[in-house]
Amino acid sequence: MAITIKGTGSSLPKKVLTNFDLEKMVDTSDAWIRERTGMSERHIAENETVASLATEAAKKALADAGKDAADVDMIIVATCTGEVMVPSTACKVQAEIGADNAVAFDINSACSGFLFALQTAGAYIASGMHKNALVIGAEVLSSIINWEDRSTCVLFGDGAGAVFVENCEEEGRGILSMAQGSSGSKGGVLYFRKREADPDKEDEYEGKDAFVHMNGAEVYKFAVRQVPECIEKALADAGVKAADVDLFVLHQANIRIIEAISKRLGAGMEHFPVNIDKTGNTSSASIPLLLDELNRSGRIKAGDTVVLSGFGGGLTYGACVMKW
Ligand code: UT7
Repeated sequence: MAITIKGTGSSLPKKVLTNFDLEKMVDTSDAWIRERTGMSERHIAENETVASLATEAAKKALADAGKDAADVDMIIVATCTGEVMVPSTACKVQAEIGADNAVAFDINSACSGFLFALQTAGAYIASGMHKNALVIGAEVLSSIINWEDRSTCVLFGDGAGAVFVENCEEEGRGILSMAQGSSGSKGGVLYFRKREADPDKEDEYEGKDAFVHMNGAEVYKFAVRQVPECIEKALADAGVKAADVDLFVLHQANIRIIEAISKRLGAGMEHFPVNIDKTGNTSSASIPLLLDELNRSGRIKAGDTVVLSGFGGGLTYGACVMKW
């Protein structure tokens, strides 16, 4: 039994932080950030929280799907920046939208989180245990950014995206294949260190619980090698050629990573929509944020062959092929 996306929604914080704003905060330049990453601005939460962004995105996805909160069987939120460890952000969303009949839980898989959450929903629905799910990626990465570290603070943004998925009886429709993997031995190249881990450096944290640490070059190399391999596996399993894919909706980490993947797959950049210039890297939120944009603008159409792929901390990676 396949699953299909019936509705999408998203939410971005009001405040926009531009590259020019960052020039005033650290030793960087608009030109460096745009050339090395493709980013111009990102949204930063002030009054919003991971749960409030996730809730707004979820409500919009439900409205787009024409469903009531009471219809929802399962809520899965992918996040690594929830306000508290317990209760889960998914349980907060459940309470906010009044989805009293749902089971709710979070998944932490960094930038692959949305993909893994979608695949988890797919496996539950295929098993017959549940019929539908709200799958949400939501992050407030600004809460764990060291605003004095130019190598990471320019890269990330906040936001949330959601999809409502349900079982699909129609042959050849919905998610056709899923692939995923993890390389735990490479976990040290991208991690969020907890405050407790280094009490000697407590001052540097100034009210934060953790900071982002990243060896950007290593993550870059991993992404441009592992992601095309994973996508090729998912394509082979679905019996689809890269040349027949209408849209590749990839995690928005760096425009150069997306260009390298496009080259390796032999598919032109016109098939790789991007919004990284306006959102930065929003980790688990990036794929559903972009999907919602494509859905609402009409760029993604019924019958399109779409590949989703996420990659990041863990290290982790995943891809799925679907007929929209
Ligand atoms: O979301 C999932 C995981 N994350 C990713 O996928 C990110 C993957 N990595 C990347 O996107 C890139 O590696 C970065 C954008 C993080 C960095 O780009 P890069 O081309 O690999 O630059 P670099 O780290 O090699 O740094 C080049 C230079 C260095 O100066 P020197 O040593 O050549 O003098 C850095 O100190 O750029 C310097 N630099 C900066 N300069 C201005 C680093 N950050 C900045 C900055 N502004 N913000």
